[in-house]
Amino acid sequence: MKAVHIRIDWLIGIILLVFICDPAMSRADDIYENEGVQKVCSEKGVVVSASRYATKAGIRILERGGNAVDAAVTVGFVLSVTYPTAGNIGGGGFMLIRTAEGKNSFVDFREKAPMAADRDMYLDSNGEIIKDLSRVGHRASGVPGTVAGLYLAHKIHGSLPWKELVDPAVILAQEGFTIDMEMAKSFYGLRKLRENFPGLKKFARDDGKPLRPGYRLFQPDLASTLRRIANNGPNGFYTGKTAELISEEMKRGGGLITKEDLNRYQALIRNPIEGDYRGYHIISAPPPSSGGTTLIEIMNMLEGYPLGSNEFMSVNVVQTVIECERRAYLDRSTYLGDPDFVDIPLSRLTSKKYAEKLRSGITTKASSSKKMYKNRVRSEKEETTHYSIIDSEGNSVSTTTTLNGSYGSKVVVKGAGFLLNNEMDDFSVKPGVPNMYGLLGGSANAIEPGKRMLSSMAPTIVTHDDKVYLILGTPGGATIITSVVQIILDIIDFGLSPVEAVSTPRYHHQCLPDIVYHEFDAFTQRLKSELEEKGYNLKERSFIGDVQLIMVKGSFACGVSDPRMEGLASAVKEISIKQ
Ligand code: DON
Repeated sequence: MKAVHIRIDWLIGIILLVFICDPAMSRADDIYENEGVQKVCSEKGVVVSASRYATKAGIRILERGGNAVDAAVTVGFVLSVTYPTAGNIGGGGFMLIRTAEGKNSFVDFREKAPMAADRDMYLDSNGEIIKDLSRVGHRASGVPGTVAGLYLAHKIHGSLPWKELVDPAVILAQEGFTIDMEMAKSFYGLRKLRENFPGLKKFARDDGKPLRPGYRLFQPDLASTLRRIANNGPNGFYTGKTAELISEEMKRGGGLITKEDLNRYQALIRNPIEGDYRGYHIISAPPPSSGGTTLIEIMNMLEGYPLGSNEFMSVNVVQTVIECERRAYLDRSTYLGDPDFVDIPLSRLTSKKYAEKLRSGITTKASSSKKMYKNRVRSEKEETTHYSIIDSEGNSVSTTTTLNGSYGSKVVVKGAGFLLNNEMDDFSVKPGVPNMYGLLGGSANAIEPGKRMLSSMAPTIVTHDDKVYLILGTPGGATIITSVVQIILDIIDFGLSPVEAVSTPRYHHQCLPDIVYHEFDAFTQRLKSELEEKGYNLKERSFIGDVQLIMVKGSFACGVSDPRMEGLASAVKEISIKQ
């Protein structure tokens, strides 16, 4: 018995050495120090999410014999309690599932425009945009999809009873959880908004003072709503008391969502978008997200260049990536919208032949977005969250959900305790006219009753030899797609380890505005000068994204949560490795 133990220990040691001695590591160590960022590895299942409570709840489900989809349902509901800026039941999202047998499916639970919505609903009588109407308050919300989406995923792939999966969220809402410094700061930032949005008082003490780090947040109304969902499934949200409370809230604030909108909402199963990149297979989000299509388009263009034979973050590489991003985002704004409403030339956009044509326009100088642009796209807000999960069988889940802006529309449904999204702003509120950020929208994404607004979310799974290799995604609005591109390139072309790929500073280009946004330390002074010489306009910005990554090697999966935020990677029978 003892001898067997020693051999297993050796075996684990050898497998971990393979991870630790990644040949690219010494190269990347010179570029970026990531002391303290942990990856956790296991053969029994890994969960990575933006909330430590959600990750731990997901791990407990795996330990109880649940599969990755069961764990994803629990993580989703717990995020609605412990990550209120983005975790939600009042918003929507997308879940990409790959079963251990290699079958892919995609659950679309994107919000929909209410039936009373119309194309010009955010314009005044002069046709001008009414400031903030699509972003704040009751009219900004689409019909939420999250509860229907999680239920559909569970119906098809779940193994544990639904109620058991929702209960952890009920308990955390009822019994409270301890808030950390980041969350306390975020709640503190809400104090002025509370005057106009009294529901936000739930994030303060009874006397109105802000909650301090270390205090507990109790959410009894949310607990009651979650209990209705635990007991009745989607009927606990889309009909009965919760639907009544949402419709009353809408009437109070002049919003458009009716009980009928809620009764009619349905999550859908769609075929994911797929593409190949240097022998790897990429599976990602189809429309109504632009995520997968734009990602595959960029990767197809990039495949034509020997990126890995260049120095990491050299001017050739960065310039090539920017130019490919520019072209794919141009198509995003022109062609993409809800596939149930608009025809999208998907197979052309994601073909290698089309990529070759686009590549032929790329030179060693900056192209001009203005010249290239016909129809343009609106900017997106930045409050979303991603989680990646794998179980011991190899079932994998990649989910991104959103309220759109931080705390969504800022409206908390009275008596139901949850925030509503402000996803209507993801539509082109006024096609063809620049918004306050100078971005333009395409008519494919104009508002129509019952239509889903275009998204950039890109929950993604990369396989190699038909086996799951990477499970990843991130929030970040328009930067979601380019962050996923960068991680895939860093790992496949430059051999970075998961911790290095997630930690490395990011940059982003989205065609218009014609600016290369970069984290403060993404580019060296030399690289900045080289890019400027080629005609690029650079702009430093705050941190980009919050990637939750799992990498699989052999029978081991390793998870890394982005050090930019407070998320947690955890594993069943966890082995923690410090780089
Ligand atoms: O669906 C979308 O693309 C946006 N509503 C996502 C917003 C987002 O990622 C905010 N994240 N930080």
